[in-house]
Amino acid sequence: MGASLDFFSPAFPGVLMFTLMTFCLIPELTIAGITRQYKFDVKLQNVTRLCHTKSMVTINGQFPGPRIVAREGDQLLIKVVNHVQNNITIHWHGIRQLQTGWADGPAYVTQCPIQNGHSYVYNFTIVGQRGTLFWHAHISWLRSTVYGPLIILPKRGVPYPFAQPYKEVPIVFGEWWNADPEAVINQAMKTGGGPNVSDAYTINGLPGPLYNCSARDAFKLKVKPGKTYLLRLINAALNDELFFSIANHTLTVVEADAVYVKPFEIDTLLITPGQTTNVLLKTKPHFPNATFFMTARPYVTGLGTFDNSTVAGILQYEFSSKTLSTPSIKKLPLYKPILPPLNDTSFATNFANKLRSLASDQFPANVPQKVDKHFFFTIGLGTSPCQQNQTCQGPNGTRFAASVNNVSFALPTTALLQAHFFGQSNGVYHPDFPSSPIFPFNYTGNPPNNTMVSNGTKLVVLPFNTSVELIMQDTSILGAESHPLHLHGFNFFVVGQGFGNFDPNKDPANFNLVDPVERNTVGVPSGGWVAIRFQADNPGVWFMHCHLEIHTSWGLKMGWLVLDGKLPNQKLLPPPADLPKC
Ligand code: C2O
Ligand code: CU
Repeated sequence: MGASLDFFSPAFPGVLMFTLMTFCLIPELTIAGITRQYKFDVKLQNVTRLCHTKSMVTINGQFPGPRIVAREGDQLLIKVVNHVQNNITIHWHGIRQLQTGWADGPAYVTQCPIQNGHSYVYNFTIVGQRGTLFWHAHISWLRSTVYGPLIILPKRGVPYPFAQPYKEVPIVFGEWWNADPEAVINQAMKTGGGPNVSDAYTINGLPGPLYNCSARDAFKLKVKPGKTYLLRLINAALNDELFFSIANHTLTVVEADAVYVKPFEIDTLLITPGQTTNVLLKTKPHFPNATFFMTARPYVTGLGTFDNSTVAGILQYEFSSKTLSTPSIKKLPLYKPILPPLNDTSFATNFANKLRSLASDQFPANVPQKVDKHFFFTIGLGTSPCQQNQTCQGPNGTRFAASVNNVSFALPTTALLQAHFFGQSNGVYHPDFPSSPIFPFNYTGNPPNNTMVSNGTKLVVLPFNTSVELIMQDTSILGAESHPLHLHGFNFFVVGQGFGNFDPNKDPANFNLVDPVERNTVGVPSGGWVAIRFQADNPGVWFMHCHLEIHTSWGLKMGWLVLDGKLPNQKLLPPPADLPKC
């Protein structure tokens, strides 16, 4: 995506395609997918924003990275070749990876990283999913520059459950640092303090005119009057949930995390890092004699400093009259949206409550109705001790840490999935991740005296097809804060949420087991809890973590090990021969 207008087109330039099944006399709906091949060359590229030029890690020299387009049922073969000094992995965020955990991508979870001069082919098939997802680097903070859209079209001949849009446009939010983001996180991990905040937010890599030295780096969405556009929104920012709005226009939400939802109209939406959302934009029936800003800025609940700036893109109408000359854009009035206050938690709650699964015959909501295993996880920040003879910049001279059930997760130096598959888990991980807090306390009340977290590499082990209910409870140990939790390998249903401490006697009665939204990333409400359910029908090791990257860096992560089932299609496939070695 560049500075110019960049409409989505269902053509795949530079993409090799060949059909797997050469002949097929069955009707369209049952046609097997095709195989699509992409090549990702990881290389350095000079990029300039806000008058700062830096050499950064990119895919094929593009920023944001190339768009992957496939159909439901297709197989993807993406060859990643690493030409840079940094180790790298790529994660296909939201792809279920049924039986193909080796292609999931989180470093030291499902694979060792691809080292300089090495390559790895990610090989997976898209089963039962269609919509907008994204891909990103999954090691350290490299995803700040290494990310791009992953668009799954319905099978050929299958329509959307809404009117076919005139055009489709990815809108990818990102976060820009003038400095090298790897230096930013390394510095933070050294001092134990908070990281330097970003210098700008971006839309399709462009900060827009509200920043210094950025007037020309604005994303422009050129539209025709009287048409419907499908905007594929992706929040690829590192550390910030974002409000988004287009001045004087209403948006219809039709999909979240590549699952259709019951359509609803909004002026402003909230999208957390790791979330994707499709919205319909109906343009005005006639040339409006105006241009419109689309803006995004953060929703913030935590204590620390944050980037409170605003990214703007421009919605520009094409002038269609043949007799009149085009009015100069600069002379047209410019409308700006009004975004909610930065800490507007009631907006977040209302918006979350509007999201419902489509739950139609064709797209049912298969919510687990009975639960085999209940889990209760506390989610939040804490501290860890400063090393001797060092001064630390975290709370009261400690180091910032973050944890799930007070376990701050430490990644191993080999991959968890390999250790499991080859029966070499000794010394790599423990299968005893606590299913509820070991020392219960008033999670959203006065913080405990001891804020120190424990460290460990522990997994929850689940038999194949266990149906799971998980309550994620925010803690106020270092202040209440919203945490967008992302689960790899599954979609889950968001069956309930609330404020304060979850009450196991009262709250389940209000769960929505009919049409809850199905997604892969959900905000744990600031000072509250969220309840999710999923069916553990995918063997492998599946990472779960906060998609605020700094919280993941501090240890807000854990893993689920789902064992093989009995049938052949319930077993993890063997690792590919080119799986990177540590
Ligand atoms: Cu989008 Cu584990 O990440
Ligand atoms: Cu978090």
